[in-house]
Amino acid sequence: MADGRRSRGSRPQDPPDRPDANRPDAVDAVDADVPAAVGRVLDALLAERVEHAAALDPVFGRDLAERVARCTLEGGKRMRPQFVWWALRACGGGAGEAEAALRVGAALELIQTCALVHDDVMDGSRLRRGRLALHADVTAQYADAVPADRSRGFGEAAAILAGDLALAWADDTVAAVDAPPDTARVVRDLWSTMRTEMVAGQYLDIQGQATSSVSLARAVRAACLKSALYSVERPLALGAALAGADAAQSAALCSAGRCVGIAFQLRDDLADAFGDPRRTGKPAGGDIRTGKPTYLVAVAQARAESTGDRRGAAVLRRALGRADLSESGLAEVRDVLVSTGARDLVEAKIDRLVAQGMRHLDSVVLEPQGRRRLRRLLHASAGTAPAHTPTPASGACGAEDGGLPLSLLLSAGADGVLR
Ligand code: IPE
Ligand code: IPE
Ligand code: MG
Ligand code: MG
Ligand code: MG
Repeated sequence: MADGRRSRGSRPQDPPDRPDANRPDAVDAVDADVPAAVGRVLDALLAERVEHAAALDPVFGRDLAERVARCTLEGGKRMRPQFVWWALRACGGGAGEAEAALRVGAALELIQTCALVHDDVMDGSRLRRGRLALHADVTAQYADAVPADRSRGFGEAAAILAGDLALAWADDTVAAVDAPPDTARVVRDLWSTMRTEMVAGQYLDIQGQATSSVSLARAVRAACLKSALYSVERPLALGAALAGADAAQSAALCSAGRCVGIAFQLRDDLADAFGDPRRTGKPAGGDIRTGKPTYLVAVAQARAESTGDRRGAAVLRRALGRADLSESGLAEVRDVLVSTGARDLVEAKIDRLVAQGMRHLDSVVLEPQGRRRLRRLLHASAGTAPAHTPTPASGACGAEDGGLPLSLLLSAGADGVLR
């Protein structure tokens, strides 16, 4: 840990007006339940924002500000703040940085609201966290007041504004984080990079969908940019920065986050094809009906071609991007995803990425409890089971300049399947 942060964290006579979260006993409470601690920060922050919005205009307050608050407070796993917190703890941070870490975590939940609300409009998805997506909810609210031919456009326009509002609140929250100037600068830089990465990834995703550009390399790149970075790598980097981690710790956490973050999106793609909406809270088959160029689909196409499976290739060609695909048509695609071996290959790829991530995590000195919790969280995010013995570090997926070069994740085997 850098000296400046350590002295801030362990100062014996903290000022009487320090935030509650920075009291040493409060750290135990956060350790015990990070999502609840971030929830308390969000409760206070959003109550103030909603009150201000309602004072500006009661309709705006009720329709948009309250909805943004509800979406942020209800139903999410709060994985990103947990990554911030446990990276902080693993790198030796504690009481002195607790308030800042919780605020960064709250900001990540707000940017998640922005991402999800906009994503559901772009993906035409009506279900989120088991409830109506925000655009569909606004449309439903105004079903009697807005003519049918305008209601969908209105709901989507409202969701664009709601997402913007969530992003503005997220940015405000990060800008107000109280940290020493050098740390604050690193946090601001990471935040700004992360926002742009996410937009780049989302654009690659919809551009690939619109132009039917499916390739393995492109699918991994999009998964990394649209999801891995803001979901895992950058939250870990933010926690490490707040703790004043050394360069080796930050680089190892970033590399671990990159590997597992991609695995997280590959798992999400599997859940979209094979998951149960009652468990995922999201519609099933959306990626197939919209023709998303996911890694899963890219593997299935590559396998169908390389094995001469003409029927499988034809099923994929006919079904991908068909909004009106029937349940039996969807079942046929699922069969092809299984029979080509794509499902198993993606599972194996997830396992390898997670194993690589764990090797990065084990390659540096970290606080034992923090490392343990990070292992568990990383596994949970990718839907894999923790192994009992730590794996030795390996240079196979090494970090350069604090980040894993994408090229190292993009090497394809003779059959075109990424290793
Ligand atoms: C969903 O993220 C969006 C993706 C990047 C795949 P999460 O799975 O973290 O969603 P919530 O916040 O827990 O609902
Ligand atoms: C979304 O990816 C990534 C972001 C929200 C930035 P998906 O479109 O796969 O996420 P879900 O499946 O709708 O949650
Ligand atoms: Mg989506
Ligand atoms: Mg999407
Ligand atoms: Mg998805």
